[in-house]
Order: sequence, then structure tokens, then C-alpha cells
Amino acid sequence: MRTVVVSLLAALVVGLAPGAASSPARAATHVVEIVDFAYAPATLTIQAGDTVTWTNLDADAHTATATGGAFDSGLLDEGDSYSFTFAQPGTYDYLCTPHPFMTGRIVVVAAAAPTPASSAGSLPDVAMRARQGWDGGPGWQLALGLLLLAAGALVAARAAARRG
Ligand code: CO
Repeated sequence: MRTVVVSLLAALVVGLAPGAASSPARAATHVVEIVDFAYAPATLTIQAGDTVTWTNLDADAHTATATGGAFDSGLLDEGDSYSFTFAQPGTYDYLCTPHPFMTGRIVVVAAAAPTPASSAGSLPDVAMRARQGWDGGPGWQLALGLLLLAAGALVAARAAARRG
């Protein structure tokens, strides 16, 4: 019985957790191809938290090496890939160590601010979801949770009465 209550309460918490109903902005992965001794695209603008994956399509080995030291792929043979996640906004120039004429730039901008809808306070958000009822949201989970809390209080009261 206790296990059932715990798992149902866990489901309730998960259902009410922020972002369970609306999908938050997700980090993206961008691809830079290394082909014909060049990076394509040579300049790429991404958001903080995004990941860039370089893939070498040339028969010659290349690197993607940040001039500021933020990242270094090491030598990538044909078909090899290297990924780096950019947490901090900024401009990251990079080059190929064996071929310094190969240059590229990653521009990392701050992640977009949440939309007004998704940044609304948790209280109105919960109220809004509760109105969605069985079909649209965790309203039924809220009712179930309250029911379980009442049942738990009842069990505790009976246990206390048995002891006393
Ligand atoms: Co190269």
C-alpha cells in the first residue's frame, strides 16, 4: 500500500512539475562540415547552451581549434566528428592547426528569454492547468493527490488510535 501511495504521489509531483505540460526552449545541436579545406558554415551564430558538431568530410585530417583555447577537437580523420557545448556567450574564433588558413567563427548569444506564457508564475500556471481537467492537464492528478493526502491522514490517525 505504501509503495502504491508513494508512486502515485511521485506521479502527481511529476505532473505538476514546471515544464511538464509546456515544452521549454531546448538546446540545439548545429553542424559544421569540414569540406574542401574550409568550414561550412564559416560563421555560425548559436544560443548559449547549444552544441556544435564538426564533421570532417575531407580525406585530409583537420582540427577545429579555438584560438582562445576554449575547445580543441584534435586531429579529425575523414568521417570523424567532434562536439562542443557553448555555455558562455561570446565570439569564438577557431582554426585548423595543420592548415591555419582554415578559419571559422562561432558567435554565441545569450539564450532567448522565456516567452511571457512560459514565464508566468507557478500559481496561475497551476490554476490554468487545473481548469484543463482530465483531457488537457494534471487537474485530475491534483484531485487524486488531495484524495491521497486525505487517505494518508486517515491511516495516520488510525495508527495513532491503535497505539493509544
Ligand atoms: Co585543416
